[in-house]
Amino acid sequence: MCGIVGAIAERNVVEILLEGLKRLEYRGYDSAGVALLDGEGNLTRTRRTGKVKELADALHTHPSKGNIGIAHTRWATHGGVTEANAHPHFSSDRIAVVHNGIIENYQRLRSELAAKGYGFDSDTDTESIAHQVHYELDQGADLLQAVHNAVKKFEGAYGTVIIDKNDPERMIVARSGSPLVIGFGIGENFIASDQMALLPVTRRFMYLEEGDVAEVTRTNVTVYDQDGQIVQRDIVESDIEHDAGDKAGYRHYMLKEIHEQPTVVRNCLQGRLGEHGISPNIFGQDADSILDNIKHVQIVACGTSYHSGMTAKYWLEQYANVSCNVEIASEFRYRKSFVHPNSLLVTISQSGETADTLAALRLAKSLGYSSSLTICNVPGSSLVRESDLAFMTLAGAEIGVASTKAFTTQLTGFLMLTLALGKHNGMSETDHKAIVDGLHSLPSKLEETLSLTQGIKDLAEEFADKHHSLFLGRGDQYPIAMEGALKLKEISYIHAEAYASGELKHGPLALIDDEMPVIVVAPNNELLEKLKSNVEEVRARGGIMYVFADKEAHFQSDNTMRVINVPHCSAAIAPIIYTLPLQLLSYYVAIIKGTDVDQPRNLAKSVTVE
Ligand code: M6R
Repeated sequence: MCGIVGAIAERNVVEILLEGLKRLEYRGYDSAGVALLDGEGNLTRTRRTGKVKELADALHTHPSKGNIGIAHTRWATHGGVTEANAHPHFSSDRIAVVHNGIIENYQRLRSELAAKGYGFDSDTDTESIAHQVHYELDQGADLLQAVHNAVKKFEGAYGTVIIDKNDPERMIVARSGSPLVIGFGIGENFIASDQMALLPVTRRFMYLEEGDVAEVTRTNVTVYDQDGQIVQRDIVESDIEHDAGDKAGYRHYMLKEIHEQPTVVRNCLQGRLGEHGISPNIFGQDADSILDNIKHVQIVACGTSYHSGMTAKYWLEQYANVSCNVEIASEFRYRKSFVHPNSLLVTISQSGETADTLAALRLAKSLGYSSSLTICNVPGSSLVRESDLAFMTLAGAEIGVASTKAFTTQLTGFLMLTLALGKHNGMSETDHKAIVDGLHSLPSKLEETLSLTQGIKDLAEEFADKHHSLFLGRGDQYPIAMEGALKLKEISYIHAEAYASGELKHGPLALIDDEMPVIVVAPNNELLEKLKSNVEEVRARGGIMYVFADKEAHFQSDNTMRVINVPHCSAAIAPIIYTLPLQLLSYYVAIIKGTDVDQPRNLAKSVTVE
């Protein structure tokens, strides 16, 4: 989704802005732009559709400079992908604005502003921010007051940075619904929608809170809360590695992130899992006493994170004796739902900024949940700051749009949550030991599973000309089949559907023919014989199957079935292990199809609008 970078310094800020935009590319975007204000009061703007490289080339061909600058990568919502719709947007060649989010009442604002004589050069909602601020200045406000006044008129979500040609010593930023972080330098300050953008220039960050407006000068930052009162916000030191954005020799971030999974899962377990169980309070301060009273878990998430919640439901109900519902955040937030007594609301998110998940958490606070926990990968993100308890997945920066290591670390966290809740709800010794032992073996089992790469590469060749595919699983492997289907469709653009294999005869069997590959996940568990019957139903109808199976499940390759043996592992960790071959399959199919693996079309890494 859209990305923002801003800088105010003694030096020329062009390269800082361009580097920041490059580091935000992973979020997904379709155009980019920069506005610069120099010491002589010249405000210039350069915008391009396509990649940040096009913008950088333009800025190098026609050099521009400025000590204050704002830059943006746009993921189109209102108005097509055109240069005119790219940010920054101007008002009267005086005000420049970049904006993430959606101003929902923009049509009314546009009409009002048009009636006041403002012309519009774009189809965006953002241009009304520029004109509204300009209008407030015309009424006699200074820039800071103008922004305070303007934001009162906006409905919807915004993270916005505004500069004024006539006020060249400051940037004004405002946040409501879309994250913004201020970066502190020495004699220079920065602003971004994501700290990744600023890691080359600072490691000291301040996260703005909902409703905050801040004045950022070269040497000072003053934050006002939504009541206009000056407030102090904490400054935190980031420990994200500066080179977290490197591919480390891999062709794509996605492949690097797939291969990092044994290491990041090990990191996720370290210090949290002892020889005989989990350490106290790994879900946050006082977590154990909070979890002690929990009898029901409501999970809310989107996309891949939703699939990890679906998997967790099987674990929590089977092992921890706790009832669990899982819902897509965009559904949960717009319906009246039943709140069970002693319920824990669990949000799951790689980014911690997904708009629907965040809105669901905020809604839940008014609904009577006992407590909220987030399982999240980004420290300091909105979900982490707004939840009662937080479990950091420690997967490190995930750059590929397709989520991989975030998913497997979320599942690792959920197995530990199963242990924590199970402790208070009569989990059997046998199940406890099986999960603890399974978790101890997990990093090395993941390493072993990565050795399937060559076989999966060969198999991927058979998918390249296919347009549709079916993924089948049973029990806790059903969400893994769903995740496999999501991975394939998002990066290879092959239509993929997942079914609980018991559902086959209720409709999807009608689709089976030799043009519809059927991918089956088949660990050796108590549902194996049922799954084998489903496999026979497909075979009888001429389907071609690719079966990821435990050796002891005794599937044999033949002319209708290719079997890929997955290392034997315990039942508790099987969903995590079987995820890897499906990630690799999607990756190599996408390579053969030549798609943009790390930034698939139409998608964004962090979905900060609903
Ligand atoms: O950052 P989140 O985990 O909240 O993101 C939710 C989804 O947008 C995300 O999981 C998406 O489905 C994946 N990028 C797909 O691989």
